[in-house]
Amino acid sequence: MAIKCIGILTSGGDAPGMNAAIRAVTRAAIYNGIEVKGILRGYRGLITNEIVPFKTNSVSNIIQQGGTMLKTARSKEFQTTEGRKIAYETIQREEIDALVVIGGDGSLTGARIFAQEFNLPIVGLPGTIDNDLQGTDLTIGYDTALNTIMQAVDKIRDTASSHERLFFIEVMGRECGFLALNGAIASGAEAAIIPEKSMEQDQLADLISNGFRKSKNSSLVLVTEGDITGGAMAMAERVKKEYPQYDVRVSILGHVQRGGSPTASDRILASRMGAAAIDALLDGQRNVMIGIQNDEIVYVPFSKAIKKNKPLQQDLLDTLKILSI
Ligand code: F6P
Repeated sequence: MAIKCIGILTSGGDAPGMNAAIRAVTRAAIYNGIEVKGILRGYRGLITNEIVPFKTNSVSNIIQQGGTMLKTARSKEFQTTEGRKIAYETIQREEIDALVVIGGDGSLTGARIFAQEFNLPIVGLPGTIDNDLQGTDLTIGYDTALNTIMQAVDKIRDTASSHERLFFIEVMGRECGFLALNGAIASGAEAAIIPEKSMEQDQLADLISNGFRKSKNSSLVLVTEGDITGGAMAMAERVKKEYPQYDVRVSILGHVQRGGSPTASDRILASRMGAAAIDALLDGQRNVMIGIQNDEIVYVPFSKAIKKNKPLQQDLLDTLKILSI
């Protein structure tokens, strides 16, 4: 069936570069003679029928903006069969032939189920600061968040070294250590405590027994949020009890990591991926996420993209360890 009209939505946690992706999808679709409808508030907008027709100038002046002009949500109703049925009725009524979904793990899981249930063509774009989707080297928003973390850690370093303190800095990432690990390398921190290593090793005990960085009196340690590592607070509590000689502080970076104008890398990635989403649909691709591997656009089946435990490159772990002597 020829695709005459697509719907586009952003879902889950927002990420810088989502607007650049919305712009690219919209413009590439119109360029190819396809009509575009913006769906507000993610999947919820399909249930509540919040649909706006998009023209080329609907997406003017947004490439540089963080957040998502389509708004976003984590819809509980869409997780039910009944909710998805209502959503599909909207798709039929609006004569939408295919969907482009920009979001992370949860959003693409929803896309996969929806596509299967109603035989609807859906293409996903990886939009999340966590970089936790498989089959793509990078996700939209990750580079910007990494830069935000780096800038924050640079500032914390000033006060940490002045007071000769040990800082635990908590970063986002859910169950995934990319932001902590690469954030630590980029900011010259001593270590990253990440979920991927938490099962096999007491990372804090290792750090302490190595004396942190022996040549310095202050130390910066990035910690991935969440139950697996326990987060920065838990680390600090442990140090206070077990190693009272350290002057410890905690800084939780929080949602500041999700905001801000996207970096050039994220804008370019989002633009390439957005255009590729339309190519994919015109090519007859269904139920795939657009990924990037070795700087080439690839199609990744949803089932692969949403698999947990994306591997971290060992050389990143080694580099951080070697450089923090
Ligand atoms: O998935 C993106 C993310 O920012 C995670 O890193 C974090 O765990 C979560 O979303 C926070 O979600 P919320 O904004 O709903 O608190």
